[in-house]
Amino acid sequence: MSKLWGGRFTKQTNELVEEFTASISFDKEFAEEDVEGSLAHVIMLGECGVLTEEEVTQIQSGLITVLNKIKNDTFEFSVTDEDIHMNIERALIEEIGPVGGKLHTGRSRNDQIATDMHLYLERKTKHFISLIEQVQRSILKQAADNVDTILPGYTHLQRAQPISFAHHLMAYFWMLERDKSRFEDSLKRISISPLGAGALAGTTFSIDRSRTAEILGFMDVYPNSLDAVSDRDFILEFLSIASTFMMHVSRLSEELVIWSSQEFQYIELDDSFCTGSSIMPQKKNPDVPELLRAKTGRVNGNLFGLLTVLKSLPLAYNKDMQEDKEGMLDTVKTLDGTLKLLAPMIETMVVKKENMKKSVQHDYSNATDIADYLVNQGSTFREAHEIIGKIVLYGIENQKYLLDLTMEEYKQFSPLFEEDIYELLKPQSVMNARNSYGGTSEQQVQNQIEYGKTFIRT
Ligand code: ARG
Repeated sequence: MSKLWGGRFTKQTNELVEEFTASISFDKEFAEEDVEGSLAHVIMLGECGVLTEEEVTQIQSGLITVLNKIKNDTFEFSVTDEDIHMNIERALIEEIGPVGGKLHTGRSRNDQIATDMHLYLERKTKHFISLIEQVQRSILKQAADNVDTILPGYTHLQRAQPISFAHHLMAYFWMLERDKSRFEDSLKRISISPLGAGALAGTTFSIDRSRTAEILGFMDVYPNSLDAVSDRDFILEFLSIASTFMMHVSRLSEELVIWSSQEFQYIELDDSFCTGSSIMPQKKNPDVPELLRAKTGRVNGNLFGLLTVLKSLPLAYNKDMQEDKEGMLDTVKTLDGTLKLLAPMIETMVVKKENMKKSVQHDYSNATDIADYLVNQGSTFREAHEIIGKIVLYGIENQKYLLDLTMEEYKQFSPLFEEDIYELLKPQSVMNARNSYGGTSEQQVQNQIEYGKTFIRT
């Protein structure tokens, strides 16, 4: 089979080279976008008088036949035709004859592949935005059921202050909200048409780039043909947003793993999201969050891979750029799987409220409140901090928590203590006392959930 670019060559391509340089094994993923771009191009060529109406109609129907074959899995992709563009062009010519060879007038594979990827990523980005919202919805549901569920809040992984479980979950809601808004913002830079930039310098044919952009639904057109064919920032940006998103997922996953351990027993993941051990019958492993945690690695790797490919590349198109695809496709696949699992996993997890509550009854996480109490009674915060430090030490030595100490014991540390401290030291009081905006009190968390709902659009 001769190459579509074979004219200048006297020898066949080495088979290993053919295999090594071909991208068809992965860029066939863009078949639909490629045909869509070609359809827009050919309509525009007709409108601009570069092709006749008859030629346009023939090419359009040929392209649709080819696309249907691809969709039905009856299309035979060939490595000899290197990539999706030449596979489709060859099939088109086979379908409608030499007129198919007119499709490539006024464009190049360089603007063509860039167009395909812009179209593809625009679609995927919108898809991820709606999947993120589904995860946010599942968080809102769990949060609504757990406003008054109390668990220890941590800093340095040391118990700090009791907080609402809904408050903890809602922290992830806002991380996802930022990821979503980053994806949304990136659409401005994805939705730009490179089509018609030609190989690098534009084309001698009188084409209308705004028209193809309009047909394809792009918001804008690249004003510089060199930039149009060599820009891969939009893919880097996607990978970078994906990495931040996966980092967030890995943090949540880590907590789910910890919380489902025997030591914590704060949550139980649904059986359908766990697996067993082949040797230890008692085990129920949180494989899904473990894998989500780990998949962050490949997404980060894909970002670094492309950053490294693009570094120092001269303008304009270089074959190096073909290496932009597999990492992106792998990231798309990873995000898709991750997002689809997250929502049902969060929704079906059982929250063991009693175990969380037991934890806060057996710690000193109410110590700040008793310091604040002394401040309200006239002591300075530093003085109060010192006194409470001593009380905690006394408690540890005598195996008593703050609620177990008698008034007599309290009075030994400061005459300012009165009976009312016992009510104030209860975990629920401690939690609800943090009623500042964005704090963990039930009232604030309830407001936060209501506010969160206003960010769900679909
Ligand atoms: N398969 C190529 C890529 O992915 C398409 C563009 C090829 N252009 C070229 N001049 N060889 O980058």
